[in-house]
Amino acid sequence: MTTSELEATAEAYRSFAHVHTRAHSPAYERVSAAVAESPELLDRLLALPPIKRQPNLLLAAVRYLGGPSASGEAFLAWTLEHWARVRAVMLARATQTNEAGRCATLLPLLAALPQPLALIEVGASAGLCLYPDRYRYRYDRASTFGADGSPVTLDCATTGPVPFPGELPRVASRAGVDLSPLDPAAPDDARWLESLVWPGQQQRLDRLRAALSVARAEPEPARIVRGDLNAVVAELVAAAPAGATPVVFHSAVLTYLPLEARQAFTAAVRELPCRWISNEAPGVLPEVDARLSQAAPTDRGVFVLSLDGEPQAFTGPHGERLDWFPPHLTLG
Ligand SMILES: C[S@@+](CC[C@H](N)C(=O)[O-])C[C@H]1O[C@@H](n2cnc3c(N)ncnc32)[C@H](O)[C@@H]1O
Repeated sequence: MTTSELEATAEAYRSFAHVHTRAHSPAYERVSAAVAESPELLDRLLALPPIKRQPNLLLAAVRYLGGPSASGEAFLAWTLEHWARVRAVMLARATQTNEAGRCATLLPLLAALPQPLALIEVGASAGLCLYPDRYRYRYDRASTFGADGSPVTLDCATTGPVPFPGELPRVASRAGVDLSPLDPAAPDDARWLESLVWPGQQQRLDRLRAALSVARAEPEPARIVRGDLNAVVAELVAAAPAGATPVVFHSAVLTYLPLEARQAFTAAVRELPCRWISNEAPGVLPEVDARLSQAAPTDRGVFVLSLDGEPQAFTGPHGERLDWFPPHLTLG
C-alpha cells in the first residue's frame, strides 16, 4: 500500500460525503466522512482490488448485511467487527445501482431520434433504463405524461432549452449487456439493488420497487447478455431489427472501466451504424468533456449527457435534474 493510495481512498470517501451525498443522505454523509478518517477501515479497503474500494460498494454491503448507518461511530464499529462478511459481499457483488429515474434525462434525446428505436444499453444492471416508454414523467412539477397506468412517475427539475418530448419514444427492441446482469424477478438481486439506495431516500426505494415490477410484468423483457461491453456491443448493434434506429446508451458505467477500455469503446461506437447517448460523470470521457462550453459544477454530483459525443446537458446522477445547454442541437 502507498501513501498516495491511502490518501486517494480517503479522498474518495470525503468527496462522497461532502459532494455526492450531502444534499441527499445525511446518514451516508456522516458515515462516509467517518470512513475517510478511519485508518483501520482504510487499511482493510486498501487490501481489496482498487475497483472494490468504492464508497457505494462498502456502504451497500453493510446495508445488505443489516449493519447500522445512523452514525459514523456505529458504522465503523460494526463494519470492523464483521469485516470478513462485509469483504465477502464486496468481492462477490459490484456497484450496480439501477436507477430508472435516469430515463427522465435520457428521454428528450430518445424521443427526438428517428423512431422506432432499438435500445441497446451497455452496463444495464437489471435493465430498468430499457423501459423509458413504460414510465410516466413529470418535469418541473408540471402535469405528468407517459405510459397510462404506469406505477412509476419520474420527477425531474430542469433549466435551459430542454427539447421536451411531445410523445414517448417507440421501442422496437430492448437489449443490453452487463458483466453480471441482475434479474428483476430474483429476490436476492432485488435486495442487493435496494441495498444500493442510500438511507433516507424512500422515494428512490419506492421507485426502484415499482420499476422492478414493470420489468417483471413486461411481456417481452429486455434481453441482457452477460459479458464485457467492448466484446459485445457490435453484435448487439448488428442484431437490431431492420427499420429501427439502433441507440447504444450508458449511464454511470464507463467510470468502472480503465481509460484504455473507455477509449476502445468510444472509438468502436463511433464507427458502428448507431446513435450513441452517454450519461457519465465529468472526467470519464475526456474527449466529450473537451467539447463542453462550460465547466462542470464541483459542489454537487453531475453527469454529462451527450449525443454522438456532443455534450447536451448536465444531469443529476439519479435523474433528478436536467440542465440543458443553450442552444440545443438540431436532432434527426
Ligand atoms: C452503476 S450501474 C448503472 C446501471 C444502469 N446503467 C443505470 O444507469 O441504472 C453500472 C453497471 O455497469 C456494469 N458494468 C461495469 N463494467 C462493465 C463492463 N466492462 N461491461 C459490461 N458491464 C459493465 C456493472 O455490472 C453495473 O451493472
